[in-house]
Amino acid sequence: MTIKTQLWQRTDASGELDNVIKEAAALLRNQQVVAFPTETVYGLGADATNEAAVRRIFEAKGRPSDNPLIVHVGERSQVDELVTRIPDVAEKLMDQFWPGPLTLVLPSNHKAAHNVTAGLDTVAIRMPSDPIALAILKETGLPLAAPSANRSGRPSPTDAEHVYQDLNGRIAGIVDGGPTGVGVESTVIDCTTEIPIILRPGGVTKEDVEQLIPRVIIDPALAGQTEHQPKSPGMKYTHYAPESPLWLIEGDDEFFRQQLEALKDEGQRVAVIASHELASQLNHEHVTACGSREHLAEVAGELYRALRHYKKTDIDVILCESFPEHGVGAAIMNRLRKAATQKIKQY
Ligand code: TXA
Ligand code: MG
Repeated sequence: MTIKTQLWQRTDASGELDNVIKEAAALLRNQQVVAFPTETVYGLGADATNEAAVRRIFEAKGRPSDNPLIVHVGERSQVDELVTRIPDVAEKLMDQFWPGPLTLVLPSNHKAAHNVTAGLDTVAIRMPSDPIALAILKETGLPLAAPSANRSGRPSPTDAEHVYQDLNGRIAGIVDGGPTGVGVESTVIDCTTEIPIILRPGGVTKEDVEQLIPRVIIDPALAGQTEHQPKSPGMKYTHYAPESPLWLIEGDDEFFRQQLEALKDEGQRVAVIASHELASQLNHEHVTACGSREHLAEVAGELYRALRHYKKTDIDVILCESFPEHGVGAAIMNRLRKAATQKIKQY
């Protein structure tokens, strides 16, 4: 089934932008699905209290229905309407990091539609800081369920063009607000347990959170992914996947160069995703430099664009550098591990 997707081009004229917000909000109130920018990645929004509207998100993305969605709010009072209680730790986190790239898992009162929470007794909520996202939320007056606006399994969209590639003809509209800033999704913290648990590393770092609350732990399931193996067999990941297989290289620059040369000698068409520092040392045609090792926020901002850059018709293997895991590096490496089909570690 194809529907007409309205594309509101990027506009700086505030009068025009007001109209765009009104039109997008009208579609959302009418149970349609509209993509809009947030400070992390583009989101695919629908009325979180309406099961039929939310179903359209799952259909458009091809998302498995057992994976719950994040509810976005424009006002703190909307949180009270969706939960049975707000633990103290959650209040603190909201005070400090909202609006911003932090999602809190809270006990649901089941006002959010059943398919938003995938039947769980908890609901994930965040208040984005992007002005367009906030304006749309306020204009609708609704809590909006909004997963990343990509086809399921693809890298998340950091530009309206990415949303268009994945979802044109499948959703009612796309609000183009230009490239997003943070580049990786929000940090998800479960606040329903005695000690809060980071379920997904993201734009707000563990170090940031630890400044505020004494104890926070990382979901053991995430720790499992950090187990270094020399060369894990091509595991079937379906997250953040570029078109061509991605090999994640852990080692020094010389090790990286050896891997690249070996593949080239085999006649493979290789592309590279690397920091400026490494990219500038490589004498190779297909290199995407994404920020500096010293400024991981730059890398986060450019990562998904880099993962979308290469087409399978041109490239057999993408080699990607590993980044330090402090700060937002934890989110970068989490996504790269999920995107990778091979991990190659230097000994
Ligand atoms: O930055 C973001 O968070 C972006 C933008 C659009 O706001 N949204 C986003 O949504 O990344 P999505 O659906 O792609 O990721 C939602 C994540 C998933 O990992 C999901 O499993 C988790 O949040 N999640 C949602 N509800 C949950 C719940 N009740 N309990 C535990 N995890 C939950
Ligand atoms: Mg996603």
